[in-house]
Amino acid sequence: METLAETIDWTAVMKLFTYNREYVQLGSSQFIVSHPEPVKKAIDVLRKELDQNPVLYTEEKENVMMQRVREIAAEYFAVTNPNDIAMTDSTTMGLGTIYTGLNLKPGQEVLTTNHDHYSQHEAIRQATGRSGGSYRLIDLFKNLSEITTEEIVDSVVRNIREETRVLGITWVHSSSGLKLPIPKISKALAKINAGREEDKKVLMVLDGVHGFGIELETFSELGCDFFISGCHKWIYGPRGNGLVAATREAWQHVTPVIPSFTDTMDLVIAEENRPKEMDGKQMTPGGFHALEHRWALYDAFKFHLNLGKQQVWDRVHQLNRMCKEGMAEMRHVTLHTPMDHEFSAGIISFEVDGYSTEQVVKELLKKKVVATAAPYKISWARFTPGIINSEEEIKKGLEAVYSLKK
Ligand SMILES: Cc1ncc(COP(=O)(O)O)c(C=O)c1O
Repeated sequence: METLAETIDWTAVMKLFTYNREYVQLGSSQFIVSHPEPVKKAIDVLRKELDQNPVLYTEEKENVMMQRVREIAAEYFAVTNPNDIAMTDSTTMGLGTIYTGLNLKPGQEVLTTNHDHYSQHEAIRQATGRSGGSYRLIDLFKNLSEITTEEIVDSVVRNIREETRVLGITWVHSSSGLKLPIPKISKALAKINAGREEDKKVLMVLDGVHGFGIELETFSELGCDFFISGCHKWIYGPRGNGLVAATREAWQHVTPVIPSFTDTMDLVIAEENRPKEMDGKQMTPGGFHALEHRWALYDAFKFHLNLGKQQVWDRVHQLNRMCKEGMAEMRHVTLHTPMDHEFSAGIISFEVDGYSTEQVVKELLKKKVVATAAPYKISWARFTPGIINSEEEIKKGLEAVYSLKK
């Protein structure tokens, strides 16, 4: 696929993926994905080259190829300096790298919420355990079906204390599908920070994985200090990829946990001109990775840029709306995800009367519909329509849910 016309042939896009279409794939885009053809091709080419001459090829290409990935990721997310992007293996590695690397002082607090993923909570727990700090979990709303931007922003603001150094939060909750008004939260934080000294400002660490690859906001529009995402979900990148984007100021508040393999490595070994400023390159955990997968992430971003961010947003929101409207009409189904685009992205969470979440997922699978169960204390079944799906598949998914009526 070179460039796609303005009106996209979504059936052709679906065919770029080799999913087994005997199954309706409504669980993959927020979990782990299949590689689209351009990504698969790039991996194959790179693997062949690496297999022929791993040492020479790696020595020649590593810095160039990683920079190419940073540059296209920066273009996709409008990050001014590509060197402010660190490459990781996953969202989880990004969260662990940032929380553990943050130079938290004893007594400083991480404020987080009851709606974030295990990976964020564990990273916070371990990091504050090491630093002698603490963490606190809050609810952002009383009732999901009545949420407002004001309630969410107010819940954050009311809970910031003198000792709060970090706000750990999630763009799109994988428990309920709720999308938070992050730009509004970051504006409210900026007001609080205006009255604080530099080393006491509240840093926002955002788990952005379920917005990245769907939503339109750029890094600076979100306004967070650290943006963390995997790239093997909605970006449809090679499995085992993720990134962290941060402002140059924010990078100065972290120390690497794992030494990086950047082009500055030789300078460090020679003890000459060690970089004075921290950045995303030095915060990229080093060691050799699955290089063909790392480098082919370039092709996943190119795939998205060719499709167009607005077109992807339109398609994902259109399919999700169709699916939610179908569920909302079923009396035996409780739809938890808000209908409004403003508060949702690509995750739909629901319950079916008379079934546990585990049973819903099992019964749907018997009908060859792949759904997932959210890994939370209160766990709901999820459908996650994305660019890999068709209207036909949404209909089949809805029919399967309908057939569970007792
Ligand atoms: C909100 C959220 N954060 C983090 C993760 C972990 O993602 P990764 O596989 O990229 O580590 C998930 C998993 O689906 C998630 O839902």
